Amino acid sequence: MKTRITEMFGIEHPIIQGGMHYVGFAEMAAAVSNAGGLGIITGLTQGTAENLSKEIARCREMTDKPFGVNLTFLPAVNPPDYPSFVEAIIKGGVKHVETAGNNPQKWLPALKENGIKVIHKCTSVRHSLKAEAIGCDAVSVDGFECGGHPGEDDVPNFILLPRAGEELKIPFVASGGMADGRSLVAALAMGAEGMNMGTRFIATVEAPVHQNVKDALVAASELDTRLIMRPLRNTERVLTNAGVERLLEKERTLGDKISFADVAPEVAGVYPLIFRDGLMDSGGWSCGMVAGLIHDIPTVKDLIDRIMAEAEMLIAQRLAGFLSETRAPVPA
Ligand SMILES: Cc1cc2nc3c(=O)[nH]c(=O)nc-3n(C[C@H](O)[C@H](O)[C@H](O)COP(=O)(O)O)c2cc1C
Repeated sequence: MKTRITEMFGIEHPIIQGGMHYVGFAEMAAAVSNAGGLGIITGLTQGTAENLSKEIARCREMTDKPFGVNLTFLPAVNPPDYPSFVEAIIKGGVKHVETAGNNPQKWLPALKENGIKVIHKCTSVRHSLKAEAIGCDAVSVDGFECGGHPGEDDVPNFILLPRAGEELKIPFVASGGMADGRSLVAALAMGAEGMNMGTRFIATVEAPVHQNVKDALVAASELDTRLIMRPLRNTERVLTNAGVERLLEKERTLGDKISFADVAPEVAGVYPLIFRDGLMDSGGWSCGMVAGLIHDIPTVKDLIDRIMAEAEMLIAQRLAGFLSETRAPVPA
């Protein structure tokens, strides 16, 4: 399948693996890139630029296909050393960067001078237009159903994607709730030129996370995510567990008086406990409503091949069938 996204990133299939804290290691990114998508290493999980350089080198040993690095700009009292992370990306010869969290304008000149394509993740049309105006090459449009930070507008992809399609000139991918060939075809129908998946890629053989996490995703339904930190205007969609329910109880009890310190026990330092140690009740970890569509743990290649085969069948048979007078449409 050819779209402006496959052309821009030099990939076979219009499927991107979004940056994921404590999941987006070289093993994850390389598996996605080897399967024809765009794998992405999560920069900040590496902690230092030196470690990121090593992770980029490790990924290059595992794949000769294009891969990217995610740079998440967080509001932090002690911000990470972003200049050195950017330098590690440039020196590592990475040609694709996914930015998220905040306006990436400050970093664009350095990235663009080095021929790096930037896809910025946005949860609204106005932020997507801003990304286009400042010179980003593409946008990842993240709907309300997404795992992670959906923003505060609460617009799901059935509205957000066509709205982005009405306004944007640069290509965009659909992000949030994407799981299979149906997702891809629907995303294309709504104006996107590919899709970005987070949660779905965690339930794969190669995802370098504890088996408990993969099993939890297969067991979860679309009703099992919760929105935490809403009162702090830092909303995160997570899979529910005992720690998350404890946090939500604090939100209910403390109301407007809540501060980050109150919820820190259930959110700070939780990712290694979940993903490395498999302690599933530790607290909030990003997970999308798409958990309800995850029923197995395939290899990344099997997942991507299945998505593409299903998408092609849906377009060529089911959708084309609706236009044909002789052929009965194939069920979805
Ligand atoms: C466990 C996990 C960790 C994530 N960490 C990050 C991150 O560090 N930076 C970022 O930009 N997005 C992060 N995301 C968001 C994903 O890149 C992607 O936008 C999102 O998962 C898409 O929604 P989906 O989960 O429904 O596919 C994370 C998502 C998950 C599930």
